[in-house]
Amino acid sequence: MKILVLNGPNLNLLGTREPEIYGYETLEDAMQILQEEASGVGCECETYQSNHEGSLVDRIHLAKQEGCDGLIINPAAYTHTSVALRDAIAGVALPTIEVHLSNVHAREEFRHHSYIAPVAIGQLCGFGTLGYSLALRALMAHLHKQGKA
Ligand code: DQA
Repeated sequence: MKILVLNGPNLNLLGTREPEIYGYETLEDAMQILQEEASGVGCECETYQSNHEGSLVDRIHLAKQEGCDGLIINPAAYTHTSVALRDAIAGVALPTIEVHLSNVHAREEFRHHSYIAPVAIGQLCGFGTLGYSLALRALMAHLHKQGKA
């Protein structure tokens, strides 16, 4: 079992970026914890962060070529703008879970719409970095149902 965890723009600043919204944990720490959790359930978990839309699209294509079984993605601001990311996820047809640290529905109206949600199995938001762990559980359960885990 192999999954890819993608993080979009500005998430490299976690820990110092608007900590009252996103907390004090760094992305590196959160991804390390997730990778340990994944390996505990026999899952190989690669992580990738980029501030560039096209790089995220390319990484999604590569995930398919590499035989990845599923994706967890926090598309950050691209959630609300990117048809290209949505099409990439639809194009590779890998089961995908969308994660947001903050509760986007309790924030500005422009954050309420997600281009990604319709091509994801589900969306988790508002649980901070715990959302990645919950997404891992949800993705594993989905793959298990499909007979893949
Ligand atoms: C975010 C929410 C987005 O609206 C925002 O642009 C981000 C982070 C979150 O994790 O809460 O960069 O995806």
